Amino acid sequence: MSKNEGIQLVDLDESGVDVAFREDVLKGLSQERKALPARWLYDDAGSQLFEDITQVPEYYPTRCETEILQNNGEQFAESIGTGRAVVEFGSGSSVKTPLLLNAIEPGAYVPLDIAGDFLRAAAAELSAKFPGLPVYPVEADFMKRVELPAAVKSMPKLGFFPGSTIGNMVPRTSVDLLRSMRETLGDNAKLLIGMDLIKDTDVLEAAYDDAGGVTAQFNLNLLRRINRELEGTIPVDKFHHEARWNDTFARIEMHAVADEDIGFAVSGQTFSIKAGETIHTENSHKFDARSSNTLLLAGHWTPTARWTDAKDRFSVILAEATIARTAP
Ligand code: AVJ
Repeated sequence: MSKNEGIQLVDLDESGVDVAFREDVLKGLSQERKALPARWLYDDAGSQLFEDITQVPEYYPTRCETEILQNNGEQFAESIGTGRAVVEFGSGSSVKTPLLLNAIEPGAYVPLDIAGDFLRAAAAELSAKFPGLPVYPVEADFMKRVELPAAVKSMPKLGFFPGSTIGNMVPRTSVDLLRSMRETLGDNAKLLIGMDLIKDTDVLEAAYDDAGGVTAQFNLNLLRRINRELEGTIPVDKFHHEARWNDTFARIEMHAVADEDIGFAVSGQTFSIKAGETIHTENSHKFDARSSNTLLLAGHWTPTARWTDAKDRFSVILAEATIARTAP
């Protein structure tokens, strides 16, 4: 992925540094509890490592969600209906999206993504698989309301947000996103969303700390990225990966833990971290039926149907745009 592509969605300074990345890193490392926004995990190396994670035996979400999409096509067709413009938040995955599109006879497909080249690649791949289907990729930051192409304005919409990506946001952010989606998709819209389930802590922690160490590499790649792009001097081998279940917030947290007292620099600024102190790099919230319903309702979506895989590890929920009405 070249950062220069696309329409100024990435702001680079004279020396080619991603300004937002540098700002987030300097701010996050200056806090008393060091933390970095998880979105920076996904540079080229990180995106490839995430693809690798989906193949490790411990990481069940991708397989479970695919199983759900594969096994419930008839029910999707029945509850979603035909002729909807499917608006996918994030570039379509080559596996999950066709399963949905095959099931429901959509009127159009609109992938939304901030990364223009991924978006165009995904759109081209989809067009090849569904020759009759109009595909309108839109390069946009979907955390805000998005103006959809005129050609789909009159079609009812189905938002599609797989992967439990919603789980990476803290509740106030995920509610903001759900409300933006509600605005983007309009009054008669539906939303099909993947949400990972709360389960045995050992299973969760293993999924985020696989024996082969792929998730560890994914996590530590963020420190390497800082070294690569921001003139960082972080001794990455003096950190280790940790996946922790936080029961209060019902989430898996990824941390990079310092093995000893360490000093380092980033973009000319110096930092120190004590042995055992961490840099918090990702949250992955997990849900049960009630907590997912509450989150959706807070985001102005009314849940209407729910599917899980055979082992009850992952859920896919269908919701309808909530119509404001007098309520007690
Ligand atoms: C792609 C963000 C949904 O939270 O499960 C996988 C990312 N992080 N292993 C997730 C991830 C560590 C993944 N999401």
